[in-house]
Amino acid sequence: MSKKVWITGASSGIGKALAIKFSNEGWQVAASARRENLLKDLNNQNPNIHPFPLDVKNEDEAKNIFQNIIKKFETVDISVFCTGIHDPDAEKKLSSEKIREIMETNFFGTLNCIMAVNTYFREKKSGHISIVSSVAGYRGLPAASGYCASKSALTSLAESLYFDFKRHNVRVSLVSPGFIQTPMTDKNKFPMPMIKSPEFAAEKMFIGLTKKNAFEIHFPLAFTMIMKLLKIMPNWLYFLLIKKGMKTVKY
Ligand SMILES: NC(=O)c1ccc[n+]([C@@H]2O[C@H](COP(=O)([O-])OP(=O)(O)OC[C@H]3O[C@@H](n4cnc5c(N)ncnc54)[C@H](OP(=O)(O)O)[C@@H]3O)[C@@H](O)[C@H]2O)c1
Repeated sequence: MSKKVWITGASSGIGKALAIKFSNEGWQVAASARRENLLKDLNNQNPNIHPFPLDVKNEDEAKNIFQNIIKKFETVDISVFCTGIHDPDAEKKLSSEKIREIMETNFFGTLNCIMAVNTYFREKKSGHISIVSSVAGYRGLPAASGYCASKSALTSLAESLYFDFKRHNVRVSLVSPGFIQTPMTDKNKFPMPMIKSPEFAAEKMFIGLTKKNAFEIHFPLAFTMIMKLLKIMPNWLYFLLIKKGMKTVKY
């Protein structure tokens, strides 16, 4: 029997490439996002990908959609929560409304989906919840106050849940991508070092999710190692380096 995965954020970018990768590997994929037409296009090209349109901001809707997925698939092995928004232009001006919107989608939207699978995986005593965060969750970056806060909250959430679900034999993993070329990063007006394709991200994620057992799946390695170094640096050095770097970038 083929294995089954639920992927949110599947209408574009990393989530879409991941849905196609799982489908090509023979998995049945439940694909969620708001734009139903894009999910239908995916289904037309990949019959293993089944559309389950969802706005993750609605907790009840997330629960209902997961019940519908279980009705269709009977079982789910992995859930990958890849939904996210970022608005670099709006973040240049501090806006509580914008930060709330980002938190509602990136953090609470992911939490709503975790709540949808919570009882199912705990009772099954197996399964895997994967949370797509970012290296932007390691430290605060300029013009990204809402985005960095949402991602650092997700990273902490994943670490806490790792312990809580481990007791029920459920794996929790964290995905921390560097720059990946998607509609989200197309909005960035600065050069993005070591940027990779969504297919590269999907390949790394598929291996990390299905063939390895590490908590964190991060890529590309050369870039994420630099970000990890920044994470452990003393504040004074971190601020100095980023301030210097920002002088060369129009942001
Ligand atoms: N690209 C990068 O460099 C990068 C780096 C690190 C981390 N990430 C993370 O990777 C994830 C995917 O990003 P991406 O770059 O692939 O961006 P993207 O192409 O803009 O994809 C974002 C996805 O999230 C969905 N989405 C947004 N709001 C939603 C909502 N309220 N309900 C349901 N779905 C919603 C979008 O679908 P609809 O609009 O159809 O709903 C879309 O499928 C995000 O969590 C992002 O933060 C990206």
